[in-house]
Amino acid sequence: MKDQQGRRTQYWCHIEFKPSCKPLSLPPPAAYVILRAVVSQVRPHTREGRAQAPEIMPAVVVVGSQWGDEGKGKVSDYLAFDADVVVRYQGGPNAGHTVVVDGHEIQLHLLPTGIVYPDKISVIGNGVVVDPELLVQEMEDLKKKGHDVRGLRISSRAHLIMPYHRILDALQEEGLGARKIGTTLKGVGPAYMDKSARVGLRVADLLDKETFRDRFLPVLADKNRVIQGFYGREPLEPEPIIESYLRCGEYLRDYVTDTSYLVNDAIRSGKKVLFEGAQGTLLDLDHGTYPYVTSSHPIAGGACIGAGIGPNRIDKVIGVVKAFTSRVGDGPFPTELRNAIGDSVRERGHEYGATTGRPRRIGWLDLVIVRYAAMLSGFTSLAVTRLDILSNMDVVKVAYAYKHKGKVLREFPDSYKVLEECEPVYRDFPGWPDIDPSCREFSGLHPNVRSYLEFIQEETGVPISIVSLGRERSETLVLEKVF
Ligand code: IMP
Ligand code: MG
Repeated sequence: MKDQQGRRTQYWCHIEFKPSCKPLSLPPPAAYVILRAVVSQVRPHTREGRAQAPEIMPAVVVVGSQWGDEGKGKVSDYLAFDADVVVRYQGGPNAGHTVVVDGHEIQLHLLPTGIVYPDKISVIGNGVVVDPELLVQEMEDLKKKGHDVRGLRISSRAHLIMPYHRILDALQEEGLGARKIGTTLKGVGPAYMDKSARVGLRVADLLDKETFRDRFLPVLADKNRVIQGFYGREPLEPEPIIESYLRCGEYLRDYVTDTSYLVNDAIRSGKKVLFEGAQGTLLDLDHGTYPYVTSSHPIAGGACIGAGIGPNRIDKVIGVVKAFTSRVGDGPFPTELRNAIGDSVRERGHEYGATTGRPRRIGWLDLVIVRYAAMLSGFTSLAVTRLDILSNMDVVKVAYAYKHKGKVLREFPDSYKVLEECEPVYRDFPGWPDIDPSCREFSGLHPNVRSYLEFIQEETGVPISIVSLGRERSETLVLEKVF
């Protein structure tokens, strides 16, 4: 075919075949009916008539490499600007992503960062647990600030956080006493428990009154037996919950769809798709610091299940690394600074939980953790954030190994008891002055910042693609283009 300038172009079609009754015994096309065809790439021919390599539109996953709050909001927002579709694949309203748009701070909990751009599709995938009352509230708050939320799509398969999940979250924490997890009390853990126990309610259930009642009433009766019989608390009344949840269902109805088809169609048709992880690698249910973890899978593999895509659809995985470490909630933390340095970093960086307001625990950068995270998610590059918060210090330390009972460990221990006993092995770096947020070249960074970044690359074996120099979108140094 020729384009408007008369150049020959070649259209690449992705064609899906539906096998007819005897798929293997007849050759195509007789045996197949075309299900759908999507034009995915246009390859302009060179003058010699040979096709140039197609420009692949990447699907990119952004993952937190520490315990969450690495600055994924800033990095995701930066990348979302160039993306067509932004997908949340796990977690729930426990997340707190801070995005700064035109100097105004926006806190997102359930909504993907793409929501601040009216022309993007923002997806809440099946792997997310949705509190419908909080979601409606968050959408209304954004609308009041003048944002258009019509690009939102919510998976019909996503599970619901119910009022009893929040209550059970608190009761369970109370019961653990000193060994509590320090959850956000949003009901996330109990909602994922019910999903696994196959007694969860899903977004689709909100859309049909009868189905909702049928599924909800026996589950509530069971939960009330626990809340009243076991914990000795007041049982929950069904009718106010039914009324409120069905009202939310009506509000959300037009946004609900089977998002796995939507996301796969977008990838196939060459759209730029960003998968935005919440929390961080060490909060992963399987690979994190169990039991001090969340109940979902923030690592890159979580995007496959939580959005319904094959692993071969993911082209790039960006690990977000904060220049120091922070943690909200309980559990071991080898490089923690329980001293004036930690306090000053917390104050300078406003390191308080975006969801709970709790002060975050602060520590030096720990590359044993980042190396482990890079392995688990297959990081193709790193985005380093918050270097500005460490400026004007005499010495900045980075842990690259642990000492445990006289042995040097370079691998992250699988036991929290061992982790509790680990002593970090540090390398000291001289500090740097204030960071120039308008720097656009690696060579423009202070030499001490460069050595710090080079050490991160050497120790993790992963190149840095993005250095965040401040909170605003414009305060970003890109070393390698992501989209
Ligand atoms: P949950 O996710 O509310 O069950 O909390 C489990 C653990 O994950 C607690 O230590 C929380 O503080 C932590 N957590 C959950 N969400 C986030 C987040 O978005 N950032 C940082 N920590 C989180
Ligand atoms: Mg956060």
